[in-house]
Amino acid sequence: MSEPKDERNASRPAPTGAAESRRDFLLAASAVAGAGVGAMVLLPAAALVADPVRRGAGSTAGTLLPAGKRAQFGPVPTKVELFDERVDAWNRFPRAKIGSVWVVAQDVALVALSSVCPHLGCSIDYDAAAGCFACPCHKSFFSATGEVIEGPSLRAMDRLEVQEDGGLVQIRWQRFKHAVAEKEPIG
Ligand code: FES
Repeated sequence: MSEPKDERNASRPAPTGAAESRRDFLLAASAVAGAGVGAMVLLPAAALVADPVRRGAGSTAGTLLPAGKRAQFGPVPTKVELFDERVDAWNRFPRAKIGSVWVVAQDVALVALSSVCPHLGCSIDYDAAAGCFACPCHKSFFSATGEVIEGPSLRAMDRLEVQEDGGLVQIRWQRFKHAVAEKEPIG
């Protein structure tokens, strides 16, 4: 039995070389035009979505934050959690935990030591029995004033600015680069 003929194709003339190249050109041109239209729609949308990130939303570096009353701090280090408003890409949190600090009275002045370990960023605890700070991650030990006693930390605990006003204490929160000998602010 013979194959049925496609009447439509049978009646069409075979494409010439010029017709084929014209068709290829039209296909390529429509692909370029389509990509251009897509970019015109997508690029502004992507910029809109990324806008809060580009503006650095959420950074609280260098902010002076309330830490409590002066009377609550003495020669034994006291841990204080710092809170601030935090705004991320699309959300606003009125009281978000920003970090924590050890506050200790030395003579008459208050000293604030970041609880973030300068080695690799674990949280530093105070060992009241030993009278020193200890980081459990890789066993860095610091004196009650934050100096390195032993361990891999290349620098002392990071001191933060303290301000007292009318019996209230404020601390300027800042993070620093890990695993370097000098304090290098980040964020
Ligand atoms: S992170 Fe503290 S000793 Fe390594």
